[in-house]
Amino acid sequence: MEKFVSYNPVRIEFGRGACERVGELARQYADHVLLHYGGGSIHASGTYARVTKALRAAGVDYTELGGVRPNPRLSLVREGIDICRRKRIDFILAVGGGSVIDSAKAIAAGTCYEGDVWDFYEGRALPEKALKLGVVLTIPAAGSESSDGTVLTKEEGMLKRSFCSPLCYPQFSILDPDLCRSLPAHQIAAGGADILAHVMERYFSPTTGNELSDQLCEGTMRTLMKELPKVLADQDDTAAWEQVMWTGNVAHNGLLGRGNEEDWASHEIEHELSALYDIAHGAGLAIVFPAWMKYVWREHPGKFMRYAENVLGVTGDDAETMVMQAIAKTEDFFRSIGLAVRLSELKIDDGRFSEMAEKACKGGELGAFRKLVPGDVEEILRLAL
Ligand code: NZQ
Ligand code: ZN
Repeated sequence: MEKFVSYNPVRIEFGRGACERVGELARQYADHVLLHYGGGSIHASGTYARVTKALRAAGVDYTELGGVRPNPRLSLVREGIDICRRKRIDFILAVGGGSVIDSAKAIAAGTCYEGDVWDFYEGRALPEKALKLGVVLTIPAAGSESSDGTVLTKEEGMLKRSFCSPLCYPQFSILDPDLCRSLPAHQIAAGGADILAHVMERYFSPTTGNELSDQLCEGTMRTLMKELPKVLADQDDTAAWEQVMWTGNVAHNGLLGRGNEEDWASHEIEHELSALYDIAHGAGLAIVFPAWMKYVWREHPGKFMRYAENVLGVTGDDAETMVMQAIAKTEDFFRSIGLAVRLSELKIDDGRFSEMAEKACKGGELGAFRKLVPGDVEEILRLAL
C-alpha cells in the first residue's frame, strides 16, 4: 500500500425528505446565501420550490444565480464572484449536479482571491481562503458533493481544467433520492458511467496488495451495474435510487482509492473531449475507458483478470481471452444503458486527436497504471473511433 492521509469533512444528509433540512443547515452558516443552480430542471422538478420554502422557513434570505451549463463556464463564475463581493455574501448553496457544484466552488474560492480565479485552474495559485458552501444534489454522477475538486471551462480556447483544495469540500451535502426522479434517461446513464469511472480510476492502479480497497471497489462497481438499470426501468424505484445515489458518493469521496496510486488518465482524456465537443462527461468516459483498457491491460494483466472475474463473472485460464471478454462486457453494459461506446457514433472524427492528446498530457505524462505520453493518448483515441 501507499502511505495516505484520509480526510473528508463533508456532512452527508441522506434519505427521502432530507431536502427539507436545507434551511436549518444553511442557517448554521449564514442568513443570506447565493442560491446557485443550472437551467430549468430545478423549476420543472419542484426542487426549487422545496428548497426556497425551506430557506424561507429557516429565515435564510437568498440571492439567485441560475444558468450554470453542463461543463460549467468561467464567465458565469466571474458573475457570481461579483455578486458575492457586492452583496457581501459569504455562503453559497449549490442546487444541482457536478456542474453547479463546481461552479459554486470556483465562486467560493474566487471571491476571496485578489487575482483571477482562472489562476487556480492553471496551477498558478492555490486558494488560501474560500467562502463556505452547501449542496443539494440532484444527480448522482460527478461526486463533487463530496470531493475537493472543481472542473471549469474557459470559453476562450475551450480549455477545461481542474484544481483540488481542501477548501472546496462542501460543509454539507443533501442526498435526497426523490430529487433524482425527474432525470432524463441520458443523464442517468451518463451519471452512471461517471460513477463507474471514478471507481475504475482508483481500482486500476499499479499498487498491489491492497485487498480491502480492491474489494470495496469491486462491490461498488457490481452494485452500480445492478442498480442503475433498475432506475432506468422505473424512475420511481426509491430503493434503487438510494443505492445509486450512495454509490455515486462512495465512488468519489476518496475512500476507495486509499492506499492506491490512482490513475486518472481516462478522465484527463475525456475532459479534452467534453471541452471541444461539449458532450456530457460520463458519455465521454463510456467511450474513452474501454479504449484505455484495450491499450493498457498488458501492463498488469492480473488486475484485469481480477476485474473480469470479480466484477463481471468472466472466468477462464487465458488472460487475453478473459480480458477481451471483460472489456466487451463493459462496453455491453454502457450500450445497455443507452450510451455510445465509439466516437464515430457521436460523429467525432480523428481531426483533433493530436491537439487533444497534447492538451491532455499538459507537457508531461498521464496516468499511473501505464504512463502515457501524447502518442499513447492518440492511439487510445484511435481505438475509441
Ligand atoms: O441545468 P439543469 O436544467 O439543471 O439540467 C441538468 C443538466 O442539463 C440536468 N439535471 C440535473 N439534475 C436533474 C437534471 N434534470 C432533471 N432532473 C434532475 N434532477 O442534468 C444535466 C447535467 O448536469 P451536470 O451538473 O452537468 O451533471 P454532472 O453531475 O454529471 O456534472 C458534470 C460535470 O462535473 C465534472 C464534469 O467534468 C462536468 O463538468 N466533474 C466534476 C468532478 C468533481 N468536481 O469532483 C469530478 C468528475 O469526474 C467530473 O469531472
Ligand atoms: Zn468523472
